[in-house]
Amino acid sequence: MVVTALCAGAMATTAFTWVVSGDPAMIVLVEIAGLTGVALVSTAVVRRELRPLERAAETADAIAAGDFAQRLAAAGSAPTTEAGRLAEALNAMLDQIHAALAAREQSEDRMRQFVADASHELRTPLQSLRGYAELYQSGALPDRAAVDDAVARMLSEIHRMTRLVESLLMLARFDVAEEADREVVDLSRLVRDCCLDAAAVEPSRPAEARVEPGVTVLGDEAQLRSLLGNLLGNVRMHTPADTPCRVSLSTSGSEVLLRVEDFGPGIPHESRTRVFDRFYRAGKGRSRADGGSGLGLAIVAAITDLHRGRIRLDSVPGRGTRVDVFLRTHR
Ligand SMILES: Nc1ncnc2c1ncn2[C@@H]1O[C@H](COP(=O)(O)OP(=O)(O)OP(=O)(O)O)[C@@H](O)[C@H]1O
Ligand SMILES: [Mg+2]
Repeated sequence: MVVTALCAGAMATTAFTWVVSGDPAMIVLVEIAGLTGVALVSTAVVRRELRPLERAAETADAIAAGDFAQRLAAAGSAPTTEAGRLAEALNAMLDQIHAALAAREQSEDRMRQFVADASHELRTPLQSLRGYAELYQSGALPDRAAVDDAVARMLSEIHRMTRLVESLLMLARFDVAEEADREVVDLSRLVRDCCLDAAAVEPSRPAEARVEPGVTVLGDEAQLRSLLGNLLGNVRMHTPADTPCRVSLSTSGSEVLLRVEDFGPGIPHESRTRVFDRFYRAGKGRSRADGGSGLGLAIVAAITDLHRGRIRLDSVPGRGTRVDVFLRTHR
């Protein structure tokens, strides 16, 4: 740009001096003045053109110092110019990097919270195991009945810890998986099996199953069993034993609807959006006395996600809870 401007200036000055004067000294003077003027104009033009690049360098320095919110100012450089296009492209790239960093930070925060919650949940049964073992060791358990009682409590804590570790492992595996296996699963049979299992555990509960025959989906049978097992487990754990429960499986177009409904105490309004969070227990269920660790619905949500399905929870305190899982049919 400078060379072109200088050449053009020189030609113009030469032509001008050739026209205005025949005196050689005058010609040299005019030429020097002309070339100086051209050099000054060229320097100003180059400075102006380079200003966006200087600003870009300053912004890059700020970003390198950790200020990821910085962006290149588009002002002064129209998007049609090279500098303008460069600024736009760099800003788009910075937006992407910023979003990726924010997502990573969020995921690290979640992971930290998860590890803290998991440690806390495991510490409680471990403490009570230690307590019983120390009681036994110090001879504080007076007779055989007290020892039996302590062993029974220890076994129940071990059972709870095993369930918790299994749930944690399951969630950890789901976190790295992108999609569930895609085997053909006979969902009608699976739902009937799970309902029979639930009835065997709680024969007194008034339960009803309405299962459309021959419904199949592509997915992971063990995961789908765990999904329904968790929903039925919630009815068992969070509603009185005589509360009616209804399970239904139906199709509508290309969608399968698996519904588990109970007419129990329901979930408090403010907890409804949080029950899918890991370790969240609603209302009085927050105490661990009933054995829940607050991972069941997180597992249900993760399995639904892996099957590219969706889930809906409706609950009215005092009237009951309904969980709908929508999956895609396999034809
Ligand atoms: N059918 C239901 N009726 C009433 N409350 C429910 C029902 N299902 C879930 N909840 C509430 O939602 C909370 C979260 O449920 P979730 O299944 O995630 O955990 P949990 O049942 O407490 O423990 P886990 O399933 O890990 O053994 C429960 O603690 C309970 O308060
Ligand atoms: Mg549960």
